[in-house]
Amino acid sequence: MAKIKQWFKKHKTFRSKIASIYQWFNIFWAKNILSDEVEIIGNPVFRVPTIFKGKGKFIFGGNNNFGGDTSPDFYQPNYLEARNPNTTIEFAKHIFVNNNLTIIAEGEGDEGGVFIDDDTMFGFNVTIMDSNFHDIDPNKRWLLPNSKEGGVRVKSAKVVIGKNCWIGSNSMILKGVHLGENSIVGAGSVVTKSFPKNVIVAGNPAKIIATLDKYLKEQNQDEKMDSCIR
Ligand SMILES: CC(C)(COP(=O)(O)OP(=O)(O)OC[C@H]1O[C@@H](n2cnc3c(N)ncnc32)[C@H](O)[C@@H]1OP(=O)(O)O)[C@@H](O)C(=O)NCCC(=O)NCCS
Repeated sequence: MAKIKQWFKKHKTFRSKIASIYQWFNIFWAKNILSDEVEIIGNPVFRVPTIFKGKGKFIFGGNNNFGGDTSPDFYQPNYLEARNPNTTIEFAKHIFVNNNLTIIAEGEGDEGGVFIDDDTMFGFNVTIMDSNFHDIDPNKRWLLPNSKEGGVRVKSAKVVIGKNCWIGSNSMILKGVHLGENSIVGAGSVVTKSFPKNVIVAGNPAKIIATLDKYLKEQNQDEKMDSCIR
């Protein structure tokens, strides 16, 4: 056994080939065996396995990359669920998602779903949900919409993440949250309310801890300098 271990230690290229084959198999298994037959528009690059669930639609606007091999959970699947026929989960253009993203949405049309705008970046282990999924009322909590007793679907609200946001690792974004352009969610935050553009929010529940004004001033200065040079 020790000899085999040593051999593997020595042959790095061989090991990385085996790891790639294993990951290829993981990706294939998640997409073709564990996923539902969902509608996917666009061609994101998945370097990590991803499970697609539900009856809804997934839209990828282009240049979307999922997975980082130098981060935790590289071999764990993302879980993306658009639960109902008119539920949409949409990624616009040029978005990078690290590993282990979970999105669960059940609201239909404007009443739910998730939209992520261009240039946004995700750390690892982020969760987004557009609903509580269970009633707050203790007498109704177990009554799911398609249960025999006939529960009613609880209210959902669309989640919108603006352009060029950065969502820190281990954070959770809940129903109805809108985040403005450039804003940052600190690691480990639980975002329960909407926030404007150009702020850093963090904590549980997330609150504004800083603004990005100084960077924007610098950017404006640079733009002024540029126009002088021209
Ligand atoms: C939000 C963040 C970007 C702010 O970075 P920063 O500007 O360097 O902030 P600082 O470390 O100077 O902290 C500023 C204040 O915010 C607080 N703070 C920072 N991050 C926080 C967080 N995630 N949750 C709660 N409070 C936080 C600090 O305690 C500090 O408080 P104080 O002023 O009372 O001392 C950073 O802390 C963070 O969470 N980064 C995300 C990292 C990540 O997930 N990367 C993805 C890897 S793939």
